[in-house]
Amino acid sequence: MLNILKSGTFALGDRTVKRLGYGAMRLAGSGVFGPPKDPAAARAVLREAVASGVNHIDTSDFYGPHVTNQLIHDALYPYPDDLVIVTKIGARRGADASWLPAFSPSELTQAVHDNLRTLGLDALQVVNLRVMGDIHNPSEGSIAAEVETLAELQRKGLVRQVGLSNATAAQIAEARRIVRIVCVQNMYNVAHRADDALIEDLARDAIAYVPFFPLGGFTPLQSSTLTSVALRTRATPMQVALAWLLRRAPNILLIPGTSSVSHLRENLAVSELHLPDDAVASLDSIAASVAA
Ligand SMILES: NC(=O)c1ccc[n+]([C@@H]2O[C@H](COP(=O)([O-])OP(=O)(O)OC[C@H]3O[C@@H](n4cnc5c(N)ncnc54)[C@H](OP(=O)(O)O)[C@@H]3O)[C@@H](O)[C@H]2O)c1
Repeated sequence: MLNILKSGTFALGDRTVKRLGYGAMRLAGSGVFGPPKDPAAARAVLREAVASGVNHIDTSDFYGPHVTNQLIHDALYPYPDDLVIVTKIGARRGADASWLPAFSPSELTQAVHDNLRTLGLDALQVVNLRVMGDIHNPSEGSIAAEVETLAELQRKGLVRQVGLSNATAAQIAEARRIVRIVCVQNMYNVAHRADDALIEDLARDAIAYVPFFPLGGFTPLQSSTLTSVALRTRATPMQVALAWLLRRAPNILLIPGTSSVSHLRENLAVSELHLPDDAVASLDSIAASVAA
């Protein structure tokens, strides 16, 4: 039986989770819009994750919309006591599946209520404010008003802990003057390392860093270095990419997304994968060659 505890744990504020978690976005239909082709298969992935020991699931009511939260509820409710469901607000979907900002106080408040309803919860354990300045990359601009809205929802008991997504270091510092920030979820992987310095800063303050697109997202990672390290370590390139993230910093929590039980098992088996130091050094060169 796989023991994902081998990869360790890290605090998400006042809760401790295993570093190997699961991102539910891929369970929605094509383009993260509408229902999946096979809802029973999607529920099976969620049940397999929890049965394998995963206690950190990332979602949002804007996946689908509503679809992944409903699948999580249908597959896992009543939730295990140790399960931490992290959701995010700040966007809405257009009728054409586009991703639009939803940053007004009423939209943020409505989004919290939508997540509560679809997940069947009285309070959300962690809510990330998803900054929408630029869709995949953080861009500067004050987020104080939006963080104040979340802090007010926290005071009302609807939100237990607050995180940020797609945020700059300045926005994180601004938010931390208003409310305790327990995690940051930005794009980061072995080939895309814009947040290297930020990760160290957050580690010093015991704030979790949760990379989205850990496997490259909609453009899966491809690199001859990943492939050669995979051959050497009898792993797959995707497993090597995840193992590299686990080695990168102790505050990194993984939420790889998949709609397949076999990929889920492969991703969680990373708990058994050791990367030799010289393999890490060669993997470290990937981002430099992408930037060059
Ligand atoms: N905050 C944000 O703005 C934001 C943005 C994007 C995502 N997220 C969160 O981050 C999570 C992770 O991101 P992501 O799912 O977009 O990207 P990802 O984890 O980098 O990659 C997911 C893709 O990789 C494939 N995959 C997964 N495991 C694999 C394996 N072992 N071998 C081969 N292919 C594999 C999946 O396809 P299969 O389904 O076929 O396995 C899917 O196409 C999401 O689920 C979501 O919860 C947050």
